[in-house]
Amino acid sequence: MTATRERPSPSPEVARAVIDPKSYAAWDGLLDTFDALRRDMPVAWISPSEDGVFEPFWLVTRYDDVMQVSKDNTTYLNHPKSVVFSLNEGIEFAKNLTGGSPHMVASLVTFDAPIHMKYRKLTQEWFKPKNLSRLENEIRGLAQATVQRLVDAGPAVDFVPLVSAPYPLHVVMQIMGVPEEDEPRMLMLTQQMFGGQDDDLNQSGMKDLPPDAITQLVAGAVADFERYFAAITAKKRACPTGDVSSIIANATIDGAPLNDRDMMGYYIILAAAGHDTTSASTAGAMLALAQDPAQFARVKADRSLLSGIVEEAIRWTSPVQHFMRTAACDTELGGQPIAKGDWLMINYVAANHDPAQFESPRKFDAARTPNRHLAFGAGAHQCLGLHLARLEMRILFEALLDRIDSVELAGEPRRSSSTFVGGLKTLPLNIRTA
Ligand code: HEM
Repeated sequence: MTATRERPSPSPEVARAVIDPKSYAAWDGLLDTFDALRRDMPVAWISPSEDGVFEPFWLVTRYDDVMQVSKDNTTYLNHPKSVVFSLNEGIEFAKNLTGGSPHMVASLVTFDAPIHMKYRKLTQEWFKPKNLSRLENEIRGLAQATVQRLVDAGPAVDFVPLVSAPYPLHVVMQIMGVPEEDEPRMLMLTQQMFGGQDDDLNQSGMKDLPPDAITQLVAGAVADFERYFAAITAKKRACPTGDVSSIIANATIDGAPLNDRDMMGYYIILAAAGHDTTSASTAGAMLALAQDPAQFARVKADRSLLSGIVEEAIRWTSPVQHFMRTAACDTELGGQPIAKGDWLMINYVAANHDPAQFESPRKFDAARTPNRHLAFGAGAHQCLGLHLARLEMRILFEALLDRIDSVELAGEPRRSSSTFVGGLKTLPLNIRTA
């Protein structure tokens, strides 16, 4: 690594590795890179080798620094730059589509105080454990049906398409009042809207299209989403049903209903944020248990470890791999001066593998205590759906452990290529059922 006094920068190879979606698929090498950066250059200036590819940014890898940035929502803002790492081309593309905003949709993650909290409060109570407990039976039904499908398909199965991908999608669509027959359309629309850096996962055909055609496709997806949720809004205004879409459809801010763009942004972030994330953590936990039969036997015998499996899975996989922030003023982080306007990547994978916070961080340990991971973020933007994610994973693992006696790996699992939300896309297993 080389360093200048003001802006310590790693070698071009390291800079490339931390923004290359394929490094996230390879994983172990990426963790090695983060270990070295955390030790030698915890706030590292990542700048492109070719000008104009992306805006340079500070990569933050230490747990304490990621925590500090996440909690200081006055110094580190979500607006006005992109909240997710994007190449300049992608940002231009969003600006063309929206008429100037780097964000394809306006949503909680793109707002700052004071407007952010006004929007968040609309659904915050709905996402609290007390309200979610009403859904437990419904979610248990979905979990049991999913596990039944797995058992029927066994003993040789791919856990991702059978269990970890469809189950959280069903849950999210259920809380949004989207009927099951419309789920494939919702999935396709989210894939089209958010692109996707992984060729296997992006089934929308976008990767083969020229930029103009992609703009049109995304604009079409946004419009289709808007039409779909406009119909849901009308339905939920006429007859509210207690689901989260009914809350959004009938919400007011400062006495006025939400405008269309903000309302659609709300639906879209909920539809998009809740499935790939939970899927990646669920599959990660299953991989860890398949690799460690003794730990599988322990958690099967002692269900008090269930919440430990869930929490450790979320830390160990850290499916939301980063978010970006922009410095609102000149400041300092971990001894490093940061200038007003600088872009920062808070990397949750790196923070959640910081040995200063987690003993043997690469080990999956369902009994890890304490486990104050940062996979849900922290501060004002901390994941709104964290109780739902925990609840649905706990219920699923209850059902899995009831029905499965042992599990072993039956092939090489593969991870998705993505710098933002990532995790396993295949997990071949052999299961033995009770
Ligand atoms: C294991 C599963 C999940 C993980 C790891 C995860 C992770 C995250 C992270 C890291 C953030 C940003 C936090 C920050 O900036 O400080 C976030 C925000 C958010 N998440 Fe999740 N999430 C998960 C599941 C869900 C679910 C199930 C939902 C709802 C259906 C959801 C809805 C949201 C929303 C709406 C935000 C924006 C909150 C705001 O900006 O105020 N997430 N999530």
